Amino acid sequence: MKKHFETEAIHTEFYNENNAINNPLYLTSSFYFNTIKSADDAFSFKTNDYVYTRGNNPTIRELEKTVSILEKGEDSVAFSSGMGAISGVLMSLLEHGDSILAHTNIYGSSHSFIKEILPKYGIDVTFGDLKNISNIKNKKYKVVFFETPTNPSLELIDIEKVSEYFSNSTIVVDNTFSSPYLQNPLDYGADIVLHSATKYLSGHGDVLGGTVTSKDKDYINKLKFGTLCEYGSVISPFNAWLILRGLKTLHLRMERHCLNAEKIVEFLSQRKEVEKIYYPGFEGENADVLKKQMRGSGGILSFEISGEIDRSIKFVNSLKLLKISVSLGDTETLIQIPSMMTHRSFLNEDLEKFGFKNKTIRISAGLENYEDIIFDLERGFKNIEQ
Ligand SMILES: Cc1ncc(COP(=O)(O)O)c(C=O)c1O
Repeated sequence: MKKHFETEAIHTEFYNENNAINNPLYLTSSFYFNTIKSADDAFSFKTNDYVYTRGNNPTIRELEKTVSILEKGEDSVAFSSGMGAISGVLMSLLEHGDSILAHTNIYGSSHSFIKEILPKYGIDVTFGDLKNISNIKNKKYKVVFFETPTNPSLELIDIEKVSEYFSNSTIVVDNTFSSPYLQNPLDYGADIVLHSATKYLSGHGDVLGGTVTSKDKDYINKLKFGTLCEYGSVISPFNAWLILRGLKTLHLRMERHCLNAEKIVEFLSQRKEVEKIYYPGFEGENADVLKKQMRGSGGILSFEISGEIDRSIKFVNSLKLLKISVSLGDTETLIQIPSMMTHRSFLNEDLEKFGFKNKTIRISAGLENYEDIIFDLERGFKNIEQ
């Protein structure tokens, strides 16, 4: 019988010489050989012996193999951060003269990397709305890149539809917002799925990391030994170990993140001050795509309060439990105003194009008791009326 998600995430035992229950942590830069012959065999890939942690390390490998199973791929590579993974994948796939289509609304640094850095290498960059793909007539992009749900407007992009429409492109999906517990893009035709493991995969806000998974083992091998090793954005074995530890509770955490987000949405929907709520499936929004490709709406939501941005600022400033912070997927509930924080490099008209406003507030629901989160939000509403 095929093991369930949580069993796979907990029983990750690929390399363990001493029967340790938990994953051993190999904090070493290099590995030694007993003879030059065994070094020669390792360097010529006749054996799989470990050589140097920038190329391979048992703890990092454990993480890569676990993520491959959870994302239903054949193999994975871990990077030092989500941006390490994104830049590594795009630089490995694209060369001078190639073209990339990215969804208009993607994470700020991914947007900057694609818009500012790729053109320096002669790569043609287009941003488009992948929710309305029939408006995009050119199908000849080498790479199509997007996130779903989007940030912070929580719109869903139909992975299967995009993969079928751009059937000659390499489809790359950033699955950070859902985690593999809620969504597996490779099941819907994506070629590559990546994560900022800094978020839900690690889950405790104490580490930076990134992962890339594909069904194509040869591509992953090339990404590791033809890009990562040379660029050097390697994850520390300690960070890989922390992420492996986080993965063991991913299923429990995601259930609670989702429950807390749903309870917050329910509370906000009853407040007269709230003009708009962004949450997958809320009031039937994107219900068909949600049902098709996700197993829950996730732990992130956004909303707008009536009036100008000053009221949103006053609201956020008066909270005591919720922390004003970027990032997401931590145990703590985090709140931010994207136009002033994560999306501050964009103009107001860009934000409108992305589907939200300068006063939109984003919440990453943590793992606290939701009654305490709601109590804090009530404090915010009381404060803006004073
Ligand atoms: C959707 C998404 N992708 C990628 C990243 C970049 O990840 P990292 O900060 O680990 O480099 C982030 C960071 O917030 C993100 O939200």
